[in-house]
Amino acid sequence: MASTNPTPKSKCENAAPTFQTARLTFTPLAQTDAAPLHELRSAPEVMKWSRQGRPDASVTETQKWVDSYLAEAESNITQQESIVSKPDPRKDVVFAVREVAHVESGAKHDRIVAQAGIKKGKSEVTGVERFEIGYMFVPTVWGKGYASEAVKGMAQWWLSLYPEEGKGGDTEGVYAIVAKTNPASLRVLEKCGFHFVAEGVDDHGDEIVEFCMNNE
Ligand SMILES: CC(C)(COP(=O)(O)OP(=O)(O)OC[C@H]1O[C@@H](n2cnc3c(N)ncnc32)[C@H](O)[C@@H]1OP(=O)(O)O)[C@@H](O)C(=O)NCCC(=O)NCCS
Repeated sequence: MASTNPTPKSKCENAAPTFQTARLTFTPLAQTDAAPLHELRSAPEVMKWSRQGRPDASVTETQKWVDSYLAEAESNITQQESIVSKPDPRKDVVFAVREVAHVESGAKHDRIVAQAGIKKGKSEVTGVERFEIGYMFVPTVWGKGYASEAVKGMAQWWLSLYPEEGKGGDTEGVYAIVAKTNPASLRVLEKCGFHFVAEGVDDHGDEIVEFCMNNE
């Protein structure tokens, strides 16, 4: 007789990815992601480049951050579901990024190697409203070309959904803002084909540069 109990799921089996690149999967950030995300958000060399500017002190703090992201946008459940097909571009999109090989291995422990997303907002440099991409990876995977693969993949995914945002011109496309003192991130954008838009100074007095990728 067939068992009525469902086969126990591997911890890596989360919701279906919204999209996938050669080595990475992109799944909407979920409430249960806090523990595997903590490795990333507790790394000082990563978080110094984030808006928060410092690592999360505990998994509880990471959980609070995840919960506040999920609660932030009104009708977020709708947004979380729609990210899989076509997200509401007025609300933030945050992905948990995993290695395809790790997910496919059926490993018992979940592993998130990056947080990456797109949000609508006013540029700190130009004051113009546009879509900005953000990304950060756990230091143990740096130097494998993952960020370049992820940023290119995410920008192409977005521009394929919203081609009208990327026809060219001053404000259309996907943007990124990088500190002048972050050569790895500057290199990632260069490798992905982003072009220089403008430079300025952020709220903390740090020099920043804005880049853009258009649909061409
Ligand atoms: C920036 C970051 C995302 C890059 O991730 P990654 O997966 O290592 O990136 P990639 O491997 O795709 O590419 C990195 C490139 O930068 C280069 N690089 C790394 N450190 C460098 C440095 N100190 N000076 C110059 N180039 C550097 C690498 O050699 C590589 O270029 P190459 O392929 O031509 O050799 C990662 O370091 C990170 O998460 N940093 C902390 C968070 C952050 O800065 N986020 C971006 C905020 S805008």
